[in-house]
Amino acid sequence: MSKNSAGIQRFSPRQRFEHLVLMVAFLGLVLTGLPQKYADQDWSQTLVKLMDGVENMRVLHRVFAVLLLGEILYHLVIVVYKLWVLGLPASLVPRRRDLRNALDWLRFNVHLKAERPTMPYYNFAEKLDYWITLTGVLLLALTGLMLWNPILVTDTLPGEVIPAARQVHGGEALFLVIAIGMWHLYGVLIKQFNRSIWTGKITQRQMEQEHAEALAAERPAPKFSAAEMQKRRQRFYPIAGVVVVALVAGMYWLLTTEETALETVPRQEVQLFAPELDVQAGDATVGEALWGTLRCSRCHGTEAAGVPDGAPSLRGTTLTFDEFILQIREGGEEMPAFSHLEVSDVYVLHLWTWLKDAASP
Ligand code: HEC
Repeated sequence: MSKNSAGIQRFSPRQRFEHLVLMVAFLGLVLTGLPQKYADQDWSQTLVKLMDGVENMRVLHRVFAVLLLGEILYHLVIVVYKLWVLGLPASLVPRRRDLRNALDWLRFNVHLKAERPTMPYYNFAEKLDYWITLTGVLLLALTGLMLWNPILVTDTLPGEVIPAARQVHGGEALFLVIAIGMWHLYGVLIKQFNRSIWTGKITQRQMEQEHAEALAAERPAPKFSAAEMQKRRQRFYPIAGVVVVALVAGMYWLLTTEETALETVPRQEVQLFAPELDVQAGDATVGEALWGTLRCSRCHGTEAAGVPDGAPSLRGTTLTFDEFILQIREGGEEMPAFSHLEVSDVYVLHLWTWLKDAASP
């Protein structure tokens, strides 16, 4: 740990770069994923419009997914390198003392304890953050790849696993958003403002409060001699090279072999006409009875007589049935469109039959 006036070195440029990539991929996936999970929400539809259609959103989601997969792979290679070649301690593995630290921290926060616990280089909160993210991302990657290759997966597994994977994918994603949004952002933005992942430096004070032990402790002597490290490095590079190439090739195959999941159902053409209806068959009494049960009356008035400065009167409408149903299916300037799921063709026919002969009240 080198110390200078600006603070104590905490994150290397490589770690900061990894964090940036992770953050971009994560945000990208959230913005292109959650609107698909909550498709009927207004904010979802705003985002879909921004991306010019759900088709683009789905492609973008996969682009960010590939970025994230690349980052995980890179991260795992680095972890193995640090542990196996450099012989560094596994500083993020949860230990019993983390539980003790967490309890002491809680006691300290509720004033049952005067002193903060002295915590290691990565404290319990950061370990929790790390493992929530890593396990979450791995689970999302697994279920995401299953959804990407439904045919391949159901060659061996029963069909139910696909909707199950979808539930898990969406549920875990929501959990991660909440966990990261609360635990991580609270920890680095609110509890105390900590910019170290951007600057690489942490203040002496934050170090004392959160990682006092790492300040006091002697740096452990390297586990391996320089010669041993060199020997390990020479074995690591070719093995890592082969594994990475194999994984990238496997991943490339998984991502391109099946096109199922990228194809979208073609956009539904609005059904404007109702050819199966006999226009003579409408029933004015039914139309009148229906009126009050539909959303129409909120704008056009309980009597369909219009409201001042609002929607026009529909009584005695001169529109043909085709014009009338077109307005309802496509909407107008200020009128929303209604699909046949909300107001069926037959309903529209009854309404029109009643309205065209309805005198002004
Ligand atoms: C949010 C308010 C709103 C709702 C709900 C609404 N409308 Fe409208 N509607 C309007 C407004 C405003 C207009 C006129 C301007 C326009 O086209 O947006 C209109 C126009 C129309 C017209 C065309 C009138 C003409 O003479 O050109 C028809 C027909 C009509 N609405 C039928 C309906 C029916 C049937 C429903 C229910 C299924 C309905 N509207 C629900 C606001 C609404």
